[in-house]
Amino acid sequence: MRILGIETSCDETGAAVIETESAPIRSGSENKKVTLVSNVLASSLSLHSKTGGIIPETAAREQIKYIIPVINEAIEQCNNLTIGDIDAIAVTVGPGLIGSLLVGVETAKTLSYIWEKPIIPVNHLFGHIYANFVGENSNVKIQMSKAEDIEFPAVALVVSGGHTDLVLIKDHKKIKWLGGTRDDAAGEAFDKIGRLLNLPYPGGPAIEKAALTGNTKKFIFPKPMIDSDDFDFSFSGLKTAVFREVKAMKQLSNETIADIAASVEEAIVDVLIYKTLKAAQKYKVKSILLGGGVGANQKLRDELILNTKYKIPNTEIFVPQKFLCTDNAAMIAAAAFYNYKPVEWKRINANPELYFY
Ligand code: KG4
Ligand code: ZN
Repeated sequence: MRILGIETSCDETGAAVIETESAPIRSGSENKKVTLVSNVLASSLSLHSKTGGIIPETAAREQIKYIIPVINEAIEQCNNLTIGDIDAIAVTVGPGLIGSLLVGVETAKTLSYIWEKPIIPVNHLFGHIYANFVGENSNVKIQMSKAEDIEFPAVALVVSGGHTDLVLIKDHKKIKWLGGTRDDAAGEAFDKIGRLLNLPYPGGPAIEKAALTGNTKKFIFPKPMIDSDDFDFSFSGLKTAVFREVKAMKQLSNETIADIAASVEEAIVDVLIYKTLKAAQKYKVKSILLGGGVGANQKLRDELILNTKYKIPNTEIFVPQKFLCTDNAAMIAAAAFYNYKPVEWKRINANPELYFY
């Protein structure tokens, strides 16, 4: 079957087509091969980097311009396929920015009605998890696992601009939230600290780049809640610690920016890895899955793989390719394939507050 995915929860406008050899998964823990046929993304990021953050109305106005060309392009990129060859439409219904979500949801509903295709509403957070099920996983140095090899139970770490969550997946229908951030998400911390360091938006990739030449030993920042007895996170204290350091300085040299960036990156990565492995051990999982924009961070990817291999060698670690970690529509189509529940178009609504439970 072929599913057209549509994603517009934040500043990106995405459309993708996935193809599977089997009927959609409606229950259980079965895994099937999902092939990515086309993947198109338009971003208004350059507009937001000028303002140091996303302006919701600007994002939605841009998405209205992009959405139809992006969907057209995603279908055109599927050699010799026509709309008749698409079996279903999957769309992100939340969480996200309401204006942005509405662009994708209303477009998907209209297409579902006109083309007479089933439509499946998808939770964006589940999408980040299902990025792991799209094609082959990233082979960061040692790993060559295939998506269809993912075994349950699994623990997923979802780290994005708005979320930092650990969830336990017993099978496609049984997903239990274990813990999440009590304040800023990891990506949000990167973005806010990036701003304190005068780095361009988004802060995550900018801090990663600056950290390459930094010394992690020059600044020692807190690793919030690393020893707490739960699976919760907190990153606002880290931001405050950086704020205090920066405020006490007369001038912020490139060398100091690099040193702070390296220590911040290390603090965030250490906490994320420690808690993820703790959850994996507690629930004796067979797989660890990474998802979300922060999952594109090379240090997080490398160290998560190394620590898993070294500390819990019987657990497989899955890391999607970087373009599948940041927002995209392929993961939304994959999530719909594995949780195939079409809903009448009239009953689908955008829900900015949607969560895991
Ligand atoms: O998943 P995503 O694309 O959008 C949301 O659902 O929020 O995640 C965006 C977040 C931003 O906070 C961005 O700074 C962060 O992911 N990010 C990174 C990297 N690339 C994106 N953080 C650290 N290192 C990166 N390479
Ligand atoms: Zn996202």
